[in-house]
Amino acid sequence: MDVKLIHIPKVHDVRGSLAVIEGDCIPFKIARVYYLFDVPSDAYRGGHAHKEQQSLILALSGSFEVVVNNGSKNERYLLNKPNIGLYIPTGVWREIENFSSGAVCLVLASTKYDENEYIRDYDTFLSSKQS
Ligand code: TYD
Repeated sequence: MDVKLIHIPKVHDVRGSLAVIEGDCIPFKIARVYYLFDVPSDAYRGGHAHKEQQSLILALSGSFEVVVNNGSKNERYLLNKPNIGLYIPTGVWREIENFSSGAVCLVLASTKYDENEYIRDYDTFLSSKQS
């Protein structure tokens, strides 16, 4: 479904690791960065698709699971490495759950925030896939 894991190049030495996102590392230009933190372990985030936005989701700290759905099939990804992100193209429903204690979920987005480009109703999402 064109959802894929992307390995962010990293530089590692005895002082630790440094990961860099630049150039063609991800398949869109970043318009916005936001992050989720202090998320209760029983919370569900996401629960929407986008008409335009592409995203890269990264577990900067801790872990969580992302369930993606393209209208015909589901895939589940465990994100738990700060240099492996999940690329989600336009038109894919996503839910994020099972946050570990201290998890930080970083989202790089291809668009600025615009509530009008969200699809927050699952049936509307499914209908958009059939048309
Ligand atoms: P929401 O879309 O429910 O978050 P998530 O999908 O990550 O679970 O957003 C929560 C609230 O934050 C909602 O009122 C919209 C607002 N918001 C912004 O104001 N700007 C943003 O860039 C984002 C992503 C959300």
